[in-house]
Amino acid sequence: MLLKLFILLLLLVQDQVLAGETHSSSSEEDGSSEHDDDEHEKSSSHEHRWGYEDQEAWRSAYHDCNGKSQSPIDIETSKAIYDRSLPAIKLDGYDLTDQPGLKLHNNGHTLQLSLPSSMRILKGFDEIYLAAQLHFHWGTIEVPGSEHTIDNVHFPAEIHVVHYNSKYADLAEAARKKDGLAVLGGFIGIGLHENENYEKILSALTDVSIEESNTMIPGFNIRHLLPNNLEKFYRYNGSLTTPPCFQTVNWTMFNDTITVSRRQLAALEKTLKAGQNQLLSKNFRAPQLLHGRRVLASFSASPSVDSANTNTFTGEKSLPKVKTSGTFDDMSKGDVLAIAFGALFVMTLLGFSAYAYQQRKKYSKIKKDTRQNVIYKPATKEEV
Ligand SMILES: *[C@@H]1O[C@H](CO)[C@@H](O)[C@H](O)[C@H]1NC(C)=O
Ligand SMILES: *[C@@H]1O[C@H](CO)[C@@H](O)[C@H](O)[C@H]1NC(C)=O
Ligand SMILES: *[C@@H]1O[C@H](CO)[C@@H](O)[C@H](O)[C@H]1NC(C)=O
Ligand SMILES: [Zn+2]
Repeated sequence: MLLKLFILLLLLVQDQVLAGETHSSSSEEDGSSEHDDDEHEKSSSHEHRWGYEDQEAWRSAYHDCNGKSQSPIDIETSKAIYDRSLPAIKLDGYDLTDQPGLKLHNNGHTLQLSLPSSMRILKGFDEIYLAAQLHFHWGTIEVPGSEHTIDNVHFPAEIHVVHYNSKYADLAEAARKKDGLAVLGGFIGIGLHENENYEKILSALTDVSIEESNTMIPGFNIRHLLPNNLEKFYRYNGSLTTPPCFQTVNWTMFNDTITVSRRQLAALEKTLKAGQNQLLSKNFRAPQLLHGRRVLASFSASPSVDSANTNTFTGEKSLPKVKTSGTFDDMSKGDVLAIAFGALFVMTLLGFSAYAYQQRKKYSKIKKDTRQNVIYKPATKEEV
């Protein structure tokens, strides 16, 4: 029994060390492989044609797509680490006037709206990030097409507003730098009402139905494409979700969702074409492995784990602790169960040892000189 406990502890420790290792080796990004900037502005220099049907092929054609900090990911809400020190996001210049207009483009992979660099994330990161473009990921009527998932569930669609670090010249340069990009992501669901702000883009869909077509739309308040509440978000280190998959994106996924009407979503799913009259849909990458990465949350859902409880051994995974002020509210049901079972186990062990000890004493008294009859055997040998 003791041996079992020991092995269990050993396994736990090993797990923590491994998690630590994979994390530290995850920043091997060098960005020197391909020159195809599709998540960005330039989609002219296609060296490879990539598609969403064979995402495994990306890994061989684009070195970084094989990395250990890839996006999107599944966000496991119970494992997100509440970090009260995450700074709130402050946007600036998002309220655009209708002139000059914005370029809306069907690039064969997504519907993309070019944004002026006067739009920026003023606070929330270590540097100021300037907007470059926003685009969408979607599925079909049958298949929800968000890239990120929440507890393994897809939303119908997802918006990405792509920003680059203001210390770099442009998006293309920043995309290759470790601290180059910040993407704000929002989940799009179906609501009862038409979303007027989304309609400013969706009403122009038919003008860009053919691959590589463009149109101009009047500027508007881009802030309204994001959820009302920007205070609750998840944060993690990831990548572009399209080739060349550079691992240079500081991701923010908002907890609050955006809704559009069923009709609006259907328009997005059914209007755009790619290549020779194929429907442009299901343009989402499958969730990628975390490889030890942490997902932070700016907010604490009732069952949460606090980032203050970071394990000192690896500095990576957090173990729940009972806080002096707090109650079991601060821990998830799983944590409480684990502790309860742990306590039960220790008590059983103690009880058994005490019982065994008494038995041995009793027997050694009664049969002092017939030691071969002792019924007590060390626990460790019985269960191996
Ligand atoms: C992402 O931004 C946070 C600040 O909000 C910063 O602490 C973190 O280092 C950034 N990640 C990367 C990879 O630059
Ligand atoms: C992201 O990477 C940066 C720089 O390597 C690091 O400081 C930060 O803690 C990471 N963020 C998370 C959420 O792990
Ligand atoms: C928002 O957070 C709550 C609490 O953690 C969670 O249950 C819900 O699934 C989250 N939704 C999204 C879209 O992140
Ligand atoms: Zn995207």
